[in-house]
Order: sequence, then C-alpha cells, then structure tokens
Amino acid sequence: MRKLRVLSGMRPTGPLHLGHFHGVLKNWLELQDKYECFYFIADWHALTTEYENPEYIADYSKELFLEWLSVGLSPEKNVLFLQSAIKEHAELHLIFSMFVPIPWLERNPTYKEMLQDLSNKNLNTYGFLGYPVLQASDILIYKAQKIPVGVDQLPHLELTREIARRFNYLYKVDYFPEPEPILSEVPKIPGIDGRKMSKSYGNAIFLNDSPEKVREKIMNYVTDISRPRKSDPGDPENRCIAFNLIRFYFSSEEKEEIVRDCKNAILGCVECKKRLSERIINELTHIWEKREEVEKEDWKEILYNGIEKAKEIAHQTMEEVNLIVFRKKIV
Ligand code: TRP
Repeated sequence: MRKLRVLSGMRPTGPLHLGHFHGVLKNWLELQDKYECFYFIADWHALTTEYENPEYIADYSKELFLEWLSVGLSPEKNVLFLQSAIKEHAELHLIFSMFVPIPWLERNPTYKEMLQDLSNKNLNTYGFLGYPVLQASDILIYKAQKIPVGVDQLPHLELTREIARRFNYLYKVDYFPEPEPILSEVPKIPGIDGRKMSKSYGNAIFLNDSPEKVREKIMNYVTDISRPRKSDPGDPENRCIAFNLIRFYFSSEEKEEIVRDCKNAILGCVECKKRLSERIINELTHIWEKREEVEKEDWKEILYNGIEKAKEIAHQTMEEVNLIVFRKKIV
C-alpha cells in the first residue's frame, strides 16, 4: 500500500529553540518513517510579516535547513525543500484567490490573533490576509493528506478543506482531496520567564547555544520563590517553572525522586538545575555533533535535490489545474 503523504512547513524567522525541537521536530522525525513526508522552508510565509526587514530570511532559511539535517531529518526519507523555489505555489495561490470569499479570510481566528499580537507591524496587507490561501496552495499542490500542525493552524486547515471543496464544486471535478490534521499534542515548553518559549520573548534556549550558555540560561529559570533556602520544603509541581522543563528530560521514576527530594528539602534548586542542564546538553550534543558533519556536506546540493522532487509534482498539478480551469491550453 502506498504511504499517505504528509506535508508541513516552518517559517524561517529565527534560530530554532527547544520549543521547536519538542513541539515540532520530534514529531516530524517520527513521521518520516511512516509517511511520505514533504517538509519545506516557508520563506514566502516569513515575508508576509517580515517584508520590512527581509534581509534575514535567506540566512535563517539556510540555518533552518542545516538544523533540520542536524536533528536527523533525512533527505533520503523526506522531500525537503524551499517554498520560493517552487513558483507553482504562487500560481496555485493566484488561482485560488479568484474564488476565495474575503469573509472566509477575515473571520479566521488565528489571523485575527496574529494581527493583534504583531501590532508593532503593519499587517493590514493583501499578502497577510491571504497567507492562509498560500498555505492551502502549499498543501493542495502536493495533494497532501495528513498535515502535522498545532491547534493554532487548524483554522488554516479548515480553510484548505473549504478551498478544495469549492474548487471541486466550481469546476465539477473530484480533484483535490481534503487534508486532515495530525494534531501533535504540543507540549508547552516554558521559557526562562515561564512564558511560552519564543525568540521574541527573549526567553529561549536555542539548539545552537553553547553548553555554557545552556547552563547559564537554566540557572536563570525561576524555581519555587517561596523556597529561598534549600532547607525549606519546595512544591515543584505547582510553583517551579524549571520543573515544567524537567518533565521532558527525566523518566517518571526520576521525576518522582526529584519531587520527593525537593519536598523533603534534600535537593536544592542549584543542584537540581545542574542535573537538568546536563540532560539538555546531553541531548543537544547529538545535534551539535551531527551539525559538524552537516557543515561538511554540500547543503545546497541536498536542498536542490528536494526542490527537484517537489517541483516535478507541483508542475504536474499546475498543468492539470490549468486544464481543469480553462478547459484547454490557450497556447
Ligand atoms: N503557517 C505555518 C506556521 O506558521 C507554516 C506553514 C506554511 C504550513 N504552509 C504550511 C504548515 C502548510 C503546514 C502546512 O507555522
């Protein structure tokens, strides 16, 4: 039986951090063995919010790609590519834009939230309103069936399904399949200040931080503030921000022990955080070592290969779409 096709993208807007690793990449790594996976660098999507300072997008795209390879995304198992190298995404987006009613876009809760969150930027633009349509093109141009995303992306996926239906209805075809989400239970990785880890909050541990930097950042995590001394009993489950990170790095038995020793005032915060940093560094070491190998390879060649594979499918789809819409070739 043919494997189902998975597709997802990531915006190249900054270096990757632990939130991306646990929330997205680990999930992608699991999928690469079960599905035919397409993962792409969404540089046009980045441009929708970064159009005033787009000079970073190229470097972040390269960095993103190198990090993907370093965490173990395999260019043999997956089609890894760059969105803007496949012009057909833009062509399909244009076709869709003809029949997508504007209210479908304006009512999108994720769009509205982003408009508010990023109020320091002028996002009252045509491109930003329409980026979910671009996303629908990203998905439908490969007729992807399964889309691994977080809950914030569900409105975009619903729009994609509506667009697929509308296209099929308007042109009386059964052409585009309706994709379904693979909802990863996105673990909330707390940043140093306890808010969701994010580059823009300045609270992130990056995958390419040095071991010293990781130790320093972990030491800055807030622990139980009502426990100033080691001899005071702590309440890690309810009061400790660092504990929310510990959850990801220790087995349940180890966690129980940590909780017990913290509550019994045997384990101090400094010692506890030292253990945590070493676990994190241990995990990151695999990525750092792989990164050294990756740096020696011809990353552009690897990316071109993925682009080639993606382009072939995207080109075929656009040939078919144009025939469906216009009925015949004009020239
Ligand atoms: N909008 C997604 C994000 O911000 C990235 C993305 C673009 C995407 N196109 C996609 C995700 C297609 C899944 C499928 O994270």
